Amino acid sequence: MGGVLAIIFLFSNLLLLPDASFSLPLCTDSSAPFTLNTTLGFCPYNGKTCCNSTEDLQLQKQYEAMNISDSGCASLLKSILCAKCDQFSAELFTVTSAPRPVPVLCNSTVSTNSSQSKQEINDFCAEVWNTCQNVSIKNSPFAPSLQGQAGVTVSSNNTKLTDLWQSKTDFCLAFGGSSTDDSVCFDGDPTTLSNTSIPSPPHGLCLEKIGNGTYLNMVAHPDGSNRAFFSNQPGKVWLATIPEEGSGGILELDESNPFLDLTDEVHLDTQFGMMGMAFHPNFAQNGRFFTSFNCDKVTWAGCTGRCTCNSDVNCDPSQLQPDNGAQPCQFQSVIAEYSVNGTASEPSLAKYATPSEVRRIITMGLPFTSEHGGQILFGPKDGFLYFMMGDGGGGGDPYNFSQNKKSLLGKIMRLDVDNIPSEAEIENLGLWGNYSIPKDNPFTEDAELQPEIWALGLRNPWRCSFDSERPSYFICGDVGQDLYEEVDLITKGGNYGWRVYEGPYLFIPPTSPGGNTSLKSINPIFPVMGYNHSEVNTNEGSASITGGYYYRSQTDPCMYGRYIYADLYAGAVWAASETPENSGSFTSSKIPFGCAHNSPIQCSSVPGSTLPALGYIFSFGEDNRKDIFILASSGVYRVARPSRCNYTCSKENVTALASPNPSTSPTSHASQLNGSHNNVVLLFSSFLLLLLGVL
Ligand SMILES: *[C@@H]1O[C@H](CO)[C@@H](O)[C@H](O)[C@H]1NC(C)=O
Ligand SMILES: *[C@@H]1O[C@H](CO)[C@@H](O)[C@H](O)[C@H]1NC(C)=O
Ligand SMILES: *[C@@H]1O[C@H](CO)[C@@H](O)[C@H](O)[C@H]1NC(C)=O
Ligand SMILES: *[C@@H]1O[C@H](CO)[C@@H](O)[C@H](O)[C@H]1NC(C)=O
Ligand SMILES: *[C@@H]1O[C@H](CO)[C@@H](O)[C@H](O)[C@H]1NC(C)=O
Ligand SMILES: *[C@@H]1O[C@H](CO)[C@@H](O)[C@H](O)[C@H]1NC(C)=O
Ligand SMILES: *[C@@H]1O[C@H](CO)[C@@H](O)[C@H](O)[C@H]1NC(C)=O
Ligand SMILES: *[C@@H]1O[C@H](CO)[C@@H](O)[C@H](O)[C@H]1NC(C)=O
Ligand SMILES: *[C@@H]1O[C@H](CO)[C@@H](O)[C@H](O)[C@H]1NC(C)=O
Ligand SMILES: *[C@@H]1O[C@H](CO)[C@@H](O)[C@H](O)[C@H]1NC(C)=O
Ligand SMILES: *[C@@H]1O[C@H](CO)[C@@H](O)[C@H](O)[C@H]1NC(C)=O
Ligand SMILES: *[C@@H]1O[C@H](CO)[C@@H](O)[C@H](O)[C@H]1NC(C)=O
Repeated sequence: MGGVLAIIFLFSNLLLLPDASFSLPLCTDSSAPFTLNTTLGFCPYNGKTCCNSTEDLQLQKQYEAMNISDSGCASLLKSILCAKCDQFSAELFTVTSAPRPVPVLCNSTVSTNSSQSKQEINDFCAEVWNTCQNVSIKNSPFAPSLQGQAGVTVSSNNTKLTDLWQSKTDFCLAFGGSSTDDSVCFDGDPTTLSNTSIPSPPHGLCLEKIGNGTYLNMVAHPDGSNRAFFSNQPGKVWLATIPEEGSGGILELDESNPFLDLTDEVHLDTQFGMMGMAFHPNFAQNGRFFTSFNCDKVTWAGCTGRCTCNSDVNCDPSQLQPDNGAQPCQFQSVIAEYSVNGTASEPSLAKYATPSEVRRIITMGLPFTSEHGGQILFGPKDGFLYFMMGDGGGGGDPYNFSQNKKSLLGKIMRLDVDNIPSEAEIENLGLWGNYSIPKDNPFTEDAELQPEIWALGLRNPWRCSFDSERPSYFICGDVGQDLYEEVDLITKGGNYGWRVYEGPYLFIPPTSPGGNTSLKSINPIFPVMGYNHSEVNTNEGSASITGGYYYRSQTDPCMYGRYIYADLYAGAVWAASETPENSGSFTSSKIPFGCAHNSPIQCSSVPGSTLPALGYIFSFGEDNRKDIFILASSGVYRVARPSRCNYTCSKENVTALASPNPSTSPTSHASQLNGSHNNVVLLFSSFLLLLLGVL
């Protein structure tokens, strides 16, 4: 039997486990496991694995160098070395803290107390001790000094475990671990996942409308309070207070008092504007925050980036033909840093910031006028800034930027904004701005990659998020071209296929002055879920995904642990569950949604029905209570308790739910779009067409 993920039904109980480190299959270097088409000669891993034949051979050499005379002990050591090839090796070697020289050895016999699954785990740590204690091992990986220093060999002496450790207890304190604490341990065999039955989809998603405004981004205040920042496409940011769910309160946001106003710098057009914002993880101490927006070099002198179409990437800017007679790279994508220092005695008290840039993190000129993502996010584990960038438009990625490892288009970048190099160094390294390159970016394994790149082969990543309980889950919606909208689990160095593939389908570009990438030369990671355009009916005749969040709130316990995403045009919402848990394998279904009968702001309805008319679903947000919000053209909605829409959820504690005092509801009549609202919808309507690359 393989090592077991013990708490199979973790997410069915209501405990929040903030330090949970359960992860999807992931290798020790954070890359995705791959499927071999040959069998490894040494390690007993087939199917999904983290070792290619070269690494397998290295492990064999390491094993032979140990020169273990006892065959029982030798076979245990072989399995321990080969655990590097396990598809869960990142988890087994707990690389999130200090990487270990050996995997966590299961040290206890465990039976999980769940009626549906009962797992027995051998005391593998004791087995290793009992079998190997008197056996000499050269270059023993069990030397105490090796703890926390993966792969480092300090001594080539023959050592026995009894030379290194006083007792089995000491040994297993150092190397053992149980799998009852919500993590994986190694029991001598490849890790397997216990099958779980696919949970039935929730009856529906209950929404309450708490704001009328149209926003593209929502970011929880890093101080943990019940506040969040909202930004709109023209370039304003507001700080808002979020009412408690069911309180009848609405979003406290004063449109006339923005936190930051960049409308003078931001170039606004159908697919241009302020696309993202991110607050430094230590914002409460250092007051640093960042915006991502588009600018026009013709109208603003601060818009001065190198063109992404250049000779480095086999692109001749003079051949580019952007829309509307724009100059090549007239429009640019910018990340700029700001500070609240000077406007408040401490950052958490800041109510506004001055719009002067502290520094420019990056500026890059865009080849066309669409598909340039622009979301920015700090990684919860590593503190680096992730920057989502589309292929730059033009329809079918004509210059093949997404697959070009030297181009920053069609990529997710990962930048260190805490260590800013000198200007000379920036020049020297050929960087695009004021940031440094994290040492473990994937260029260290693939020298062809531009060092900023974390993942490639994306078309237009439109809304990515990290699971707040499992930070190794980095998940993105990636907008499709003609056929398929996809959701990807982003891993280090992962190639998500565009434009060799659109989702699971081969893609033939209409024009390709930038050449093609051969099918054989790439090893694409296919989407974990998605939908065909034919599955959604939209007036526009098309579709565009808006990636969402793992739902981690207890407000709707039936949504807990599911990934929620939407189609921007169709107003359709999906909820996906992962089966088996932590497998990275999803079952997704479209779910109905309704508006709470006591919604603070009445939802308007789709004509001739009681369904709420959300308009376009631009984005999602998550607050510090882990509640999930939908940012739509018609306003801001929060996922509410199911009973407020008369959806049944057996896990909901309905007795706890005194219904909110209706007299605090500010409105009770159905609302209609007024004239100015319609204009907003029109503007966004063309924005959306461009998102799709319908040029
Ligand atoms: C892997 O399989 C493909 C097709 O199935 C084949 O063309 C290729 O040569 C194989 N690679 C190796 C290393 O065996
Ligand atoms: C195996 O992987 C290593 C590290 O990723 C890489 O350097 C090497 O080229 C790969 N070998 C083969 C045969 O693919
Ligand atoms: C391996 O161990 C045997 C004794 O068990 C010893 O005779 C031999 O020299 C060792 N080989 C190496 C390369 O250390
Ligand atoms: C689970 O544990 C509780 C208390 O620890 C016990 O009362 C119950 O019988 C156990 N259930 C099963 C199925 O083992
Ligand atoms: C290892 O040595 C100890 C002490 O000499 C002895 O008690 C024990 O039985 C030995 N174990 C094995 C597996 O040989
Ligand atoms: C390892 O061997 C070296 C010399 O061969 C010796 O000086 C050292 O003390 C040995 N270390 C241990 C832990 O036995
Ligand atoms: C197993 O290892 C964990 C982590 O080191 C420890 O807390 C626990 O007490 C160990 N259990 C046994 C039975 O040794
Ligand atoms: C798990 O379920 C899948 C699909 O239902 C099945 O193919 C597979 O054999 C099952 N695995 C185990 C270990 O039961
Ligand atoms: C803002 O204040 C913090 C804390 O005093 C300081 O570390 C930081 O350098 C300041 N930033 C700027 C841009 O002045
Ligand atoms: C939902 O339940 C409430 C309270 O039981 C009831 O007043 C309301 O009419 C129901 N709404 C729908 C749409 O069934
Ligand atoms: C439901 O909520 C009520 C009121 O908060 C509480 O007294 C009760 O214990 C809860 N029931 C459960 C099963 O959690
Ligand atoms: C939201 O819009 C509706 C319809 O225009 C209006 O009746 C309502 O007062 C607005 N609510 C807020 C809080 O702005």
